[in-house]
Amino acid sequence: MVDEAERLRNISKYYDELTDGYDEGYSNEVCRAEDSVVLDIIRPYLRGKILDIGAGSGLLCDLVNLPGYHGIEISHKMTSEAKAKHPDKHVAVADMHSLPFPDNFFDSAVSLYGPISYSLTPEDLLSEIRRVVVPGGNIMLMPYTLRVGHKIEIGGYSTATEDSIQKIYYTQEQLVELLSPLEGVHVMGINYFLNTFTRFSQIMGLGNDHTAEQLTLFLEKEKSMREILPAEFARHMIGIGKNPV
Ligand SMILES: C[S@@+](CC[C@H](N)C(=O)[O-])C[C@H]1O[C@@H](n2cnc3c(N)ncnc32)[C@H](O)[C@@H]1O
Repeated sequence: MVDEAERLRNISKYYDELTDGYDEGYSNEVCRAEDSVVLDIIRPYLRGKILDIGAGSGLLCDLVNLPGYHGIEISHKMTSEAKAKHPDKHVAVADMHSLPFPDNFFDSAVSLYGPISYSLTPEDLLSEIRRVVVPGGNIMLMPYTLRVGHKIEIGGYSTATEDSIQKIYYTQEQLVELLSPLEGVHVMGINYFLNTFTRFSQIMGLGNDHTAEQLTLFLEKEKSMREILPAEFARHMIGIGKNPV
């Protein structure tokens, strides 16, 4: 049994080792289409001072210029990479369970593509996030989905996940339950079939030269799947809610 301090060190080491080449690994058309859809979803909720939890190599700053941006990240190397790319932005090494900010410091908080799955105490983590976000502020969290945990063939690229590091893969129900202290919670899946489509095209020799714009359109069209398929069937999911006033 790995103790918590050691588990956090392992996460940090794992992402340190992944830093070189990380951006390249997530720069294909599928990822760019997903990023575009995710940005469309979160953009209306990003305002004022923004906390990016598990900021990685600074993806959010790559996508949009947010003057009030503050990122925290447990990997030193990822943090250095984010700072090198965005020297005008605040990015610091910190553990998301103990945020180095006073109460009510942020107007909104976001966590993209997986960091909260690395918390084995997600209720405590949410309390800590709520502490630093003003009442009425928006909180947007993307844990890994159960589908990713099952390593279902998703085509195109693999997910940066390491079996030896314990983490939680979420169902929609679990994320709704976690976010229940928030107001106006909605949870949605992103990318139910796009990877299946690109994999199918590859296997059938139909070519793989789709543009990110075409794939974004595909993701837009499959939004209706949210009505009938639980979010854990998707490659990604996002939960959004408001810190109660
Ligand atoms: C899959 S990456 C996503 C990075 C970035 N949000 C993105 O979308 O490119 C998950 C990130 O969460 C970070 N992370 C994991 N546990 C953390 C913790 N306890 N505190 C802060 N960051 C953490 C990892 O170091 C890693 O950079």
